[in-house]
Amino acid sequence: MPDPTKTRATGSPDIVWQPGQVGRDQRPSRGGTVWFTGFSGSGKSTVAAAVEAALVAAGRPAYLLDGDNVRHGLNGDLGFTAEDRTENVRRISHVAQLMADAGLVVLVPVISPYRAGRQWARDIHTAAGLPFIEVFIDAPIEACIKRDTKGLYARAIAGQIPQFTGVSDPYEAPENPELRIRTDEEAPEASAAAVLRYLDSNAWQAL
Ligand code: ADX
Repeated sequence: MPDPTKTRATGSPDIVWQPGQVGRDQRPSRGGTVWFTGFSGSGKSTVAAAVEAALVAAGRPAYLLDGDNVRHGLNGDLGFTAEDRTENVRRISHVAQLMADAGLVVLVPVISPYRAGRQWARDIHTAAGLPFIEVFIDAPIEACIKRDTKGLYARAIAGQIPQFTGVSDPYEAPENPELRIRTDEEAPEASAAAVLRYLDSNAWQAL
């Protein structure tokens, strides 16, 4: 069990956790987090958005918490050093956990290149008794470079973007993801269907 003194760490001993009046069972829906990790341009956001759309259409409260979008605003002060990426993932983990606690299925596409950061995300969900599903969007870097949907790889290879994941910065692939998807071998709809099938057969019971 993750250590709650770490997952709920505070900067001051004078801050006390305040319990609310509403228990999880009293909320209209149960939440959890589906975390999509992989290279830029691997298809994480596309698949996560399709899963969100399918869930909402089926009447399930769901929300897309896209890494690129969280970098507008909340994480707008962060760049791409190892420290900043770690902080980016830490903040996103906590936001996702709070939204999951509120009863949403949270779809989180974010590179999250370090195993330790993804483990942190998992730990804070586990400590809060919430499901956490790691989906490895496993498109090989060669395929992402070839697709280069945002034109960023060409610039990174030309040396114009420093510390670019997969080009000049590391990516630690998941060792035991709940689900691994090869987006270079199938259409986004098929990848989204695989995630939905996984949720139907394995995860919903826990929600
Ligand atoms: S993470 O490494 O901190 O998890 P995050 O998913 O939030 O990354 O943001 C990645 C997005 O920022 C990519 O989709 C890409 O468009 C953009 N980006 C800009 N600079 C970089 C970089 N140096 N490495 C990776 N992605 C970058």
